[in-house]
Amino acid sequence: MPEIWTRNDRSQYERGLTTPDKETTIATTEGSRVDNKLSRGDLELFDRQPQTADVTEELLRSLGASEKSVSARYFYDQRGSELFEAITQLPEYYLTRTEMALFDTLADELRAAIGADCALVEYGSGSSKKIRQLLETVAPLAYVPVDISLSHMQHNARELHRDYPNLHIYPTCADITRRFELPEPVAQLNKVGFFPGSSIGNFSPDQAVEFLSNVARTLGTGSRLIVGVDRKKDSAILEAAYNDSAGVTAEFNLNMMKHLGELLGVDLAPEKFVHRADYDAETGCIRMFLEAVEAHEVEANGARIRFSEGERVHTESSYKYAPEEFAEIARRGGFRQVSHWSDPNDWFSVFLLEVVSD
Ligand SMILES: C[S@@+](CC[C@H](N)C(=O)[O-])C[C@H]1O[C@@H](n2cnc3c(N)ncnc32)[C@H](O)[C@@H]1O
Repeated sequence: MPEIWTRNDRSQYERGLTTPDKETTIATTEGSRVDNKLSRGDLELFDRQPQTADVTEELLRSLGASEKSVSARYFYDQRGSELFEAITQLPEYYLTRTEMALFDTLADELRAAIGADCALVEYGSGSSKKIRQLLETVAPLAYVPVDISLSHMQHNARELHRDYPNLHIYPTCADITRRFELPEPVAQLNKVGFFPGSSIGNFSPDQAVEFLSNVARTLGTGSRLIVGVDRKKDSAILEAAYNDSAGVTAEFNLNMMKHLGELLGVDLAPEKFVHRADYDAETGCIRMFLEAVEAHEVEANGARIRFSEGERVHTESSYKYAPEEFAEIARRGGFRQVSHWSDPNDWFSVFLLEVVSD
């Protein structure tokens, strides 16, 4: 029989972060209980997911509005997560390879700036691919991947656990746009936040300030945060990155309509939409939409959702920043800039920030 740890049994483990060597099943601390088959007891899932009723209400409100806009987090069901991984390999999608090449050059500086024995907290961890570069560099005690896509995150956490058996991994299923508590076992450790991939660009500038303020409060004064930020550049390069010739970004966008239909228990007819992505140089933002090719309506949970021909559902914004613009957002969010690095083309920035007020 696997052992089940309760919180009270765990004091020694939590103080010293020692690794028990038994196969263990551990309960989550909040929300629905998720059983998690583990080895050595150093992989524990924390479930802070929004409740399903909240999701239905939010979607009916978003799709019923005259200007329809849906949160980008709904891209990421299992298929959406796979399609995003495929996007990162596309020749037009320079972001991932540029950022990863930059991290390769920063190993010594990041090691010196962060120090070992910390807990690395990754916001929107996805494949947990980039963290592997930091794990080699920084050698933290614990890693907290935070993501809304539960099954994808669990799968990646297990793979990471196999490859880094001494690392304590606490996957946390949460919506990063809302405040959530970090797992209790990392409470006493120095925290370092990690938010790569220019995911910060999915927020408007004011939302980015609010997000950073929440991160500052969660991590605490003096904690550091590494953020990847895509820079403003030639609109042809930007538009190509979001309109790839293989049509993977289009499939990723259309998959969201399928996912929304599943969440609402109806068929939202993804085949009646097409993918659009345009860059607005004035706001420095790529905006992605699903555009209805014909008028149609759907009944969901007693509500009628109507789409007119040519109507657009906004699915994602990706704001691009000059370094000084982002530094100002970080300042407003309660951080000071410690360092800023860019690639040789000046296409992508990595910032090291420090919480000055939480
Ligand atoms: C664009 S991927 C980035 C993954 C990875 N950090 C990278 O840089 O390649 C965004 C990830 O954030 C997650 N995500 C998106 N919105 C989220 C939200 N509101 N809360 C938690 N996770 C979210 C998605 O599930 C996905 O894994």
